[in-house]
Amino acid sequence: MQIRGPSRGEMVNVARFEQVSKSYRNFWGRRQQPALKDLDLQIARGEVVGLLGPNGSGKTTAIKLLVGLLFPDKGRLQLFDGSPADARQRARLGYLPENNQLLPFLNAEESLDFQARLRGLDRKQRSQRVPALLERLGMLRARRQRCDTFSKGMARRLALAQALVGDPEMLVLDEPTSGLDPLGTRDFKELLREQKDRGTTCLLCSHLLSEIELVCDRVVILYQGDKIREGTLSGLLDDPDRVLLTLRKPGKGLVERLVELARGASEEVQNAPYKRSLEELFVASLADVGGRHEGDAFGAAGGNDAPARGDTA
Ligand SMILES: Nc1ncnc2c1ncn2[C@@H]1O[C@H](COP(=O)(O)OP(=O)(O)OP(=O)(O)O)[C@@H](O)[C@H]1O
Ligand SMILES: [Mg+2]
Repeated sequence: MQIRGPSRGEMVNVARFEQVSKSYRNFWGRRQQPALKDLDLQIARGEVVGLLGPNGSGKTTAIKLLVGLLFPDKGRLQLFDGSPADARQRARLGYLPENNQLLPFLNAEESLDFQARLRGLDRKQRSQRVPALLERLGMLRARRQRCDTFSKGMARRLALAQALVGDPEMLVLDEPTSGLDPLGTRDFKELLREQKDRGTTCLLCSHLLSEIELVCDRVVILYQGDKIREGTLSGLLDDPDRVLLTLRKPGKGLVERLVELARGASEEVQNAPYKRSLEELFVASLADVGGRHEGDAFGAAGGNDAPARGDTA
């Protein structure tokens, strides 16, 4: 397996925003309020950076600037060894747009194969990479199903596979888990961790804060086009004044004794039963009824039962 992270101590920026501003024009061609204001942001090789912010705060605008779909009004953008305007630098990216851009008349396998061709993979590489990715994203049984018959989550999985097919050095993902079920979300987090272990750099934006918390090294929070916070997760989230103690099957009376002891020595003591997350419950419930097989997230709609080419949805 090829690892492409930096050697220890080496920090190479693969992307950089320098005082970047962007405003859109209205119907009459007048510039509106800036969607992004003087953004400074550096992304080092191998880093996973999360962009957070409420609706309309400029996340997608920042992403589109980085992948070369928009041009800044002001400021400078670096992408790898050049700028986003340079097609050779863009070719090193895997981009998942906010809205999936799938060709409706192709099936999942053809779509992915087409993207792989665009990425310059030869026949042998494609014959390995396409089925492997379809399996990895739970789309194997739906591989012959036309894209215009996909459910929202299936379309998102395929779009994600498209972003990954060229084995990019950097992933730029705009709300990657929107439309995915909890299992899909969990698979995605695992996938992102694998990519991170391989040294793939990643910039992603999401509204699912738990997702960001689990996978990102660093977060940037935007609000009305301004960067209002930036830092490592532990730097932003650790609260040095509090400690969480979890006990599995504590002996009789132990909790009462500990609480008693703690009350004498600490300002604030909370004692509550441990609650599983809804995700833990969902995954455990599916495991109880047999779960699902790898590469087989979807049932009978895919595979041989898929509508023939030319059928309308
Ligand atoms: N094509 C466009 N034309 C005009 N204004 C736009 C356009 N795209 C975005 N905007 C405006 O730019 C601002 C930032 O939008 P952007 O899509 O970057 O936000 P976002 O943080 O991605 O939001 P969301 O969480 O809803 O995806 C918003 O005020 C939006 O209305
Ligand atoms: Mg957006």
